[in-house]
Formats: sequence, C-alpha cells, structure tokens
Amino acid sequence: GAVRVIGAPMDYGTNRRGVDMGPSAIRYAGLADGLAEAGTTPTDDGDLVVARAEERDPDASPPSEGEAKFLAEIEDVCTRLEERVAETIAEGVTPLVLGGDHSIAIGTVGGAAREADLGVVWFDAHGDFNTPETSPSGNVHGMPLAAILGRGAFGGMEWARAPGVREESVAYVGLRSLDDRERVAIRDSEMTAYTMSDIDERGVNAVVEDALEVAAAGTDGVHVSLDLDWLDPKTAPGVGTPVRGGVSYREAHSALESVSERLGDSGLLRSMDVVEVNPILDEANETATLATELAASAFGRRII
Ligand code: ARG
Ligand code: MN
Ligand code: MN
Ligand code: MN
Repeated sequence: GAVRVIGAPMDYGTNRRGVDMGPSAIRYAGLADGLAEAGTTPTDDGDLVVARAEERDPDASPPSEGEAKFLAEIEDVCTRLEERVAETIAEGVTPLVLGGDHSIAIGTVGGAAREADLGVVWFDAHGDFNTPETSPSGNVHGMPLAAILGRGAFGGMEWARAPGVREESVAYVGLRSLDDRERVAIRDSEMTAYTMSDIDERGVNAVVEDALEVAAAGTDGVHVSLDLDWLDPKTAPGVGTPVRGGVSYREAHSALESVSERLGDSGLLRSMDVVEVNPILDEANETATLATELAASAFGRRII
C-alpha cells in the first residue's frame, strides 16, 4: 500500500539536543529504499516546521518546578502533526512519522484515533506514563501515553487526550525502566504491560503476538510506536535515555516482522512512529540505520 513519511524534527520533549536531527538521519540511512523493498509505495511529505530552540519567543515563561517543559511548543507541533496524520489516513495512506522525541506520538496517535477506535503497541524501555505532576524530569517525552489517555488533564495536557484510544487497547512491549509513581499508575491502569522479563521467559514473538492481539481486538486499527531505546544500547547507541538489558538486533527484527504478519495483510496497521534517534550520540548512523530497517520490516520487507 501507500506509505507517507512525515518528519517531526522536535526535541522539546527531552533534555538532550539532537533528536531533532532524527528525520534526516533516518532518511539518509535509506528509508525510502527500504519501504520500496517492503513492497509499499512510499512518498515523503518533508518535515514539519519546528522553531529552533534558539529562536523561541524570549518572553515565553520558563517552566517552574513540577511543570512540563516546553508544553506550548510541543502542543503547537503535535496539533499540526495530528492534522497531517488525519489527512493522510483519510486519503487511504499509512503515515510513518519520524521523530523527534517521543512526545510527537501525541500528534500521531491523535490523528490516527480521529473518528476511529485505535489500539496502540508501545515498544519502549520506558512507560512514558508520567504526568506533569508525577514526572521526575519535567520532560514531556516521558508523558505522551498518559496524556493520550487523558491522565495529564490537570497538568495542562488536556489537549493531548485522544478519545479514540481506550486503555484496554494499549500494550507495552519490553518495559524495563519505570519511575515509582509511574509504575503504580501503570499497574492501576487497564493497559497490558509486557516487560523484558516476559520476553526472557516467553520469547519475543509470543509476547509481540499477544500485544498485537490486545491492540487489534475490537479496534479499527493499530498504531505502532517504536522508541529506539527499546533495543539494547549496544545495538542502538544513538538514543538520549539508554537503558541496558534491551532486545537484540534479531529480536527486534523478528518483532517488527510479526507486526507486518499480524497487521499488514488485514490493513490494520493504521500508523507508525519511529522516535528518539539521536544522531549526535550515535555511532556512524547505526541507530538511524536500524530504525530504517525496523520500519521496513514492519511494512513487510523480507529476506526472500
Ligand atoms: N521516565 C523518565 C522521565 O519521565 C524517562 C522517560 C524517557 N522517555 C523516552 N521517550 N525516552 O523523564
Ligand atoms: Mn486531538
Ligand atoms: Mn524510551
Ligand atoms: Mn519512549
């Protein structure tokens, strides 16, 4: 089918500058060729305009303790991204959004969940389930899933809620780093959380199949969110918040191949984002290359 690449070069959701260069690095690593080899017809919509941090409104007030950082900037970018994603899907095209930090998922999911019940599979070392009140860092890339599900409403993030996403239709794969209050919130939620221990015990394919089932059951389609820090930092060094003990190169490929097997033929892969690639911290663009390969696998590329 038709796939449209949309770049979201935003780094306002994280401390480390550099993820704003993710879209360039991923395209440079051969994304269009990979998607074509997967049998899709890729087009490239270019990048959303994101104001450089150096050009921000000098009168904008800096965040104070217990507040999310750069919330106005992030809302602006995500609101525009949501429109582009919604338009793309309305044209019958699958959006592939390149981050940028993980806060851009608010825009992608918002667009994909418009007028649809959307399931979500979240491949990540982290839960990204903090709210402005619970976050230890104030960084919005640690909050997008909570905000999508309406948990950030009292921290100024009501705009991020996507009513088409229900907690029961959300599954994590590969969790291994949670903040204390975040862990409690996830436990008390209706989401399904598969950790690295589940992958150790059952193997990555069984876990991913269950996660896809959770997200596909009773929904109109599934959004796949791939944070590159899901992988082990030895394999994916170009990320701002690495956590050791992640999946291997082979496990990651196998997981994303399961995505295309389970969702590809049925047309249930509604949207995808690939986030947190930081070329400044990378080694010779290997994390961007990996991001490219994993996206191609998700859209159906095979060896033979
Ligand atoms: N839990 C930490 C925080 O809230 C780290 C979040 C990392 N998120 C990410 N998308 N890499 O700040
Ligand atoms: Mn919205
Ligand atoms: Mn992460
Ligand atoms: Mn994340």
